[in-house]
Amino acid sequence: MKKIATLDHYAASLLVAESIADVVRTEKNACLGLATGGSMELVYANLVEFFEKDGVSFGRVTTVNLDEYIGLPPSHLQSYRHYMNSHFFDLVDIDKANTCIPPGMEAPEAALAAFQKFLGSHPRDFQLLGVGANGHIGFNEPGAFFEANAHIVTLDECTRKDNSRFFGSIDEVPRQAITMGIGDIMKASKIMLLVRGDNKKEALRELISHDRVDPRVPCTVLKLHSDVTVVYPEKLAP
Ligand code: F6R
Repeated sequence: MKKIATLDHYAASLLVAESIADVVRTEKNACLGLATGGSMELVYANLVEFFEKDGVSFGRVTTVNLDEYIGLPPSHLQSYRHYMNSHFFDLVDIDKANTCIPPGMEAPEAALAAFQKFLGSHPRDFQLLGVGANGHIGFNEPGAFFEANAHIVTLDECTRKDNSRFFGSIDEVPRQAITMGIGDIMKASKIMLLVRGDNKKEALRELISHDRVDPRVPCTVLKLHSDVTVVYPEKLAP
């Protein structure tokens, strides 16, 4: 595992965006696994800037997102479809027909089956990850074992509390989501995890300070992948 400590979150986001742009330039029809959340806003802002100023084109890129809340329509300001459109897809030359986010308003089992099918037929060149304060990646919450495939998950109270900062109150935060499984995440050729926020310090320590893999801190599974880079501002270093 490669570890990169940067001056601050801006430098970390720029480095991650540059890595994504490299994949897009190198792979003719790149397939990117994408993440949402506060940690990623500057990554997408940088990618939009690369598109506008440096001519980086997303015209041949396919994307698939890690997760989506169940019960939020795409028009909802906190749905991940809305997030991706407003932070990235609407601002670059990507063909939205080539962007996959499980639909939160469809019958969950049907949406899940379609998501699993898409993942099975679109190997990812790159997977972008954030991490939850409880160590979750995607919405793979702490548990007794790792779930390999995409699945429907009941969100941890810790996750709902953390994410309530984007909603009016915790009662508005959905209780369930569809998420890629750990096995889906691990199938990507290259993985980059961007850590932002003092509340992630403990998860980062579990990830980079020793060799233990523990389903109670899901991000630790990344130690088993052969091409993972963890990027974090130096003030979070254990
Ligand atoms: C988002 C996702 C989550 C977030 C994590 C961190 O698509 O899968 O794992 O990356 O919850 O969220 P922020 O960046 O808001 O702290």
